[in-house]
Amino acid sequence: MATQLFKRAIAKPLSKLTQVNEKHIIKNLQTPKIQLQHQFGLPVPKLLPEGQKNAVAYSQELAGKFEPNTYIEKATAVGPFLQFDVRPSEYIKSTLTQVLKEKDKYGCHTLPEKKTVIIDYSSPNIAKPFHAGHLRSTILGNFIKRIHDANGYHTIGINYLGDWGKQYGLLAIGFEMFGEEGELEKDPIHHLYEVYVKINALAKDDTEIDKRANAYFKKMEQGDETALIQWRRFRELSIDSYKQIYKRLNIDFDYFSGESQTESYIPKVYEMLNKYGLMETTDDGASIVNLEAYKLGKPIIQRADGTSLYMTRDIASILLRRQLFGDFDKSVYVVGIEQELYLKQLFKISELINHHDPSWPTDLYHANFGRVMGMSTRKGTVVFLQDILDTAQEHMLENIKNGNQFKMDELDDLNNVADKLGASAVLVQDMVAKRLKNYQFSWDRMTSARGYTGVYLQYTHARLCGIERNSNISFDMDADTSLLKEKEAFELALTISQLPDITQSACQTMDPCILVQYLFKLAHVTSQANNILRVKGADTKTAEARLLLFWAAKTTLANGLNLLGIDPLNRM
Ligand code: ARG
Repeated sequence: MATQLFKRAIAKPLSKLTQVNEKHIIKNLQTPKIQLQHQFGLPVPKLLPEGQKNAVAYSQELAGKFEPNTYIEKATAVGPFLQFDVRPSEYIKSTLTQVLKEKDKYGCHTLPEKKTVIIDYSSPNIAKPFHAGHLRSTILGNFIKRIHDANGYHTIGINYLGDWGKQYGLLAIGFEMFGEEGELEKDPIHHLYEVYVKINALAKDDTEIDKRANAYFKKMEQGDETALIQWRRFRELSIDSYKQIYKRLNIDFDYFSGESQTESYIPKVYEMLNKYGLMETTDDGASIVNLEAYKLGKPIIQRADGTSLYMTRDIASILLRRQLFGDFDKSVYVVGIEQELYLKQLFKISELINHHDPSWPTDLYHANFGRVMGMSTRKGTVVFLQDILDTAQEHMLENIKNGNQFKMDELDDLNNVADKLGASAVLVQDMVAKRLKNYQFSWDRMTSARGYTGVYLQYTHARLCGIERNSNISFDMDADTSLLKEKEAFELALTISQLPDITQSACQTMDPCILVQYLFKLAHVTSQANNILRVKGADTKTAEARLLLFWAAKTTLANGLNLLGIDPLNRM
């Protein structure tokens, strides 16, 4: 990494001066901040030799002794803190060299050994509304998968569909009464939802229907083919149309799993929990795991009538995943805050199982997130992902046609651009603030070209592509970067150089807002540089160097957008 070069240029001489190990110094060096200080910082108390107590005095002594080198211009003592100023031209050069070398991999890392992470996200329930929680799980989960890929992990993305349980017996009965083949083929997600709403309304006052639903599901559980045929169709048609919608968001799953897939593992769950003495039977005949000692209640594992529950199936799905993918290092559940207690219970049960079977995974992580308020589409308040994307696209089409945001290039495919812009708007709105925060859904805010929006980031990217298109020279790989003398060029290079650190911390925290905020900073600094560093009209050598700088900014922005699941637009 470019910054590594500078860290070594500090650590090496400093190690000689202090007898402190280079690695230790590098570990404590703070990289230039996002606020664009072109200095590395070092807290001197971390280097204090035995007997030396005065960090301020020691800091001054070291600053006086530190000799400038190729990369570092000077060292200054600020209280118990050392600051090292980098040489701008060297910093620009090494940053651009790195981007040139790594291109679309710039910002990515490798791991010394392969680690596998399972990410469970989106996971809607067939026939039920795709609510705001699913929207966030889809968007955040996709990011969490991509950021792990970029950090060298082997990832497995699972869509754990809600596709099993009594309600699918009810749905089958509902379909006999209200279903229409044509509608099902045309739009399974909406049609099944309609049927589901109607049959639930009926079942509310009719216990007969409830009984029939139970009986139907029991047949499904026993593997009765005639009962399963209908359910399988609902499931497959739903998955097919989900896939089309996910494609608009660049989302791909490695595995469409679901609660139904755990069925054959359920007896093993009972057997295992019994063997480890973790199951207790209550007075009314249900079986529970007692987690009172951990203040986590007594989750039911098996109903008195012998049927399984959501919890049983989640434990079974761990068995299934181990079977399918072998041992994994981490498992991330991207689920809303409503299931916080539930997941704590699941994780605690895993820990208890692990006491008996040390190979049982315990690195289970809840990627929690806040609520979305006021989400509705033009069609009304029950929200499906497709309707959200359609509405976003409509908004963007209107904005473009009214020309009230920006001047569009001539576009061959307006609908496609509007769709991509709409998706960017939805995605960035969801990731711009801390993952745990609630937010207010707003069409106007998110589709605006101003402010912290996906449209603004896309606009910056398209503009950077435009700089290349409109210049009559092509940028040169060997451009003379020493011609980039302006402070705007240095600031842009500094910002570009931060991407690798940003991708690392965004992975550790699994919070995309770190990356989104960084991309806004990059867009802002790019536009400042673009005002000053004209390509047109500059002499050829300078123009080449500037083009290289803007190409690196474009590459950095594009790589960042891709990590968010956004397809960067070349024209808009
Ligand atoms: N289908 C569930 C719901 O809509 C979410 C599933 C989350 N994943 C899991 N392994 N429990 O609430």
